Amino acid sequence: MASGKIEPVGKRLLAWYDANARRLPWRMMPGSNERADPYRVWLSEIMLQQTTVAAVGPYFAAFTERWPTVGDLAAAEDADVLSAWAGLGYYARARNLIACAREVARRGSEFPDTEEGLRELPGVGAYTAAAIAAIAFGRHAVVVDANVERVVARLFAIEEPLPAAKPAIRAAMAEITPEYRAGDFAQAMMDLGATICTPRQPGCLLCPLSADCTARERGIAAELPKKTPRKPRPVRTGTAFWAERDGHVLLVKRPGKGMLAGMRALPDDGWAARRDGDGEPPFGAGWQPVDGAVSHGFTHFQLELSVREAEVGHGVDGVDGVDGVDGVDGVGGGEWWPVDRLDDAGLPTLFARAAQLVLKSR
Ligand code: ADE
Repeated sequence: MASGKIEPVGKRLLAWYDANARRLPWRMMPGSNERADPYRVWLSEIMLQQTTVAAVGPYFAAFTERWPTVGDLAAAEDADVLSAWAGLGYYARARNLIACAREVARRGSEFPDTEEGLRELPGVGAYTAAAIAAIAFGRHAVVVDANVERVVARLFAIEEPLPAAKPAIRAAMAEITPEYRAGDFAQAMMDLGATICTPRQPGCLLCPLSADCTARERGIAAELPKKTPRKPRPVRTGTAFWAERDGHVLLVKRPGKGMLAGMRALPDDGWAARRDGDGEPPFGAGWQPVDGAVSHGFTHFQLELSVREAEVGHGVDGVDGVDGVDGVDGVGGGEWWPVDRLDDAGLPTLFARAAQLVLKSR
């Protein structure tokens, strides 16, 4: 960063935030004398991991309406929380969310108010603990998410590529984080990164920190932060099966461990992070391929999912019997779900997209 300007950065940024803070449902606007609710701050930060503010909005509204306090969420059924989460992705977050709510409820429904205390909770890592400590409890904490990384890399012209640059970025953020209004400062950096200091075309003319920004001075703002190219993710293939009878589709509950654990799903052929599916249907029927495929990115691999469909009559081998499906290998816990109410099934995005493929093909 251009020399000797550390002190004014905090002041300039906070003044900008006072006039330009985004109105977000979990946020106390600057100047408000109320304290943010730690439950809402925690919930929003978990939802915002790997997910945009725009995508989180409706989920945050639905969760806080249905479960207004951490005690309400702690008392909810796992299945209800998982299906309310469906579509947000990274489902380990939802399972940790439930575990964390129950842990906080067990401690008398008070969130710990320090970074160290927060770190002990399920699903709360270094970033989230710092964010909650600063935003909900006004603690001095160094909060670095992807938006902040970009702003700081530019401000200080840190040319070392990510992720190696993380310690330097963190140290630089520590240098500019003021002792006061730490939560507002963190959120101001996030807002600046989301609205002005954007990845491809930074709006330097509008930026309250342009005079402090070394990357802008050198004309390299849009090139930062540099990133070490990631190895391409391996591609896996799998097949999902749409079995339909009388306007109902067969859904199963995925096992308690592994990908999309515990979520409702279409039956599939056992694809996993480390192997392709075997293409085998869950039971014999007149399976037909559905045009197209779903390409879905998981953290460590890309899945190319084909879909097959069959109309299954009541007399089909293996599907009749215990409520149609319970006795069939690999289809345990199946249920016939009305096709016209599929939106309520809480399918994770992968299977919602597979279902769309089938319904679109009609
Ligand atoms: N991204 C993650 N947490 C955020 C927050 N509190 N405000 C704006 N964007 C965010």
